[in-house]
Amino acid sequence: MPALAIPDPSLVVLVGPAGSGKSTFAARCFEPDEVLASDAMRAIVGRDESDQAATRSAFALLHRQLAARLRDRRLAVVDATNVEAHARRALLQRARAAGMPAVAIVLDLPPDLVLRRNEARAGRVVNAAVVRHHLARLRTAVDHGLLEREGFNVVYRIRAPAELEALTVERRSPSAP
Ligand code: CTP
Ligand code: MG
Repeated sequence: MPALAIPDPSLVVLVGPAGSGKSTFAARCFEPDEVLASDAMRAIVGRDESDQAATRSAFALLHRQLAARLRDRRLAVVDATNVEAHARRALLQRARAAGMPAVAIVLDLPPDLVLRRNEARAGRVVNAAVVRHHLARLRTAVDHGLLEREGFNVVYRIRAPAELEALTVERRSPSAP
């Protein structure tokens, strides 16, 4: 699999259920300051990374940080499930307001694998029913081609675990062809 071409700067939106490997991928392929993770925001404004009661404040903080980064013309990776259309729409609006391209990287891995990885996690295990809900929302989005229609400039869909593991990103300056 060739490297994913990512315009730099841009907004990179990871899309995938809990347990699909978003944070693992982000840590491997992007700089820590580039990654805005909903879990990290929950730990700041709530009790810990799994504090669902802090969701609203966590996303408000994520959006503030995102707006600031995009305003400074710095690449930002949003590490959250983003399986719901309204979550993606809000992010796309930020990119549009900043005049930045938006790239979606969709982790569309086999459901059994995602559920297994979630169960096997050392720390935070997400309720299996929640993961199934994420998987269903993702299925709808992918099968109906929603992301392309929502206005992402590029949509990368990763379907095989080996493909995800081998994935690299290649940054492209805006002037590059
Ligand atoms: N994992 C794995 N092999 C990979 C990627 C991830 O075994 N190639 C494991 C991780 O070690 C972790 C689990 O799968 O235990 C979930 O990965 P994570 O990156 O945390 O998934 P996220 O999508 O970030 O999940 P969440 O939305 O809950 O943060
Ligand atoms: Mg994560």
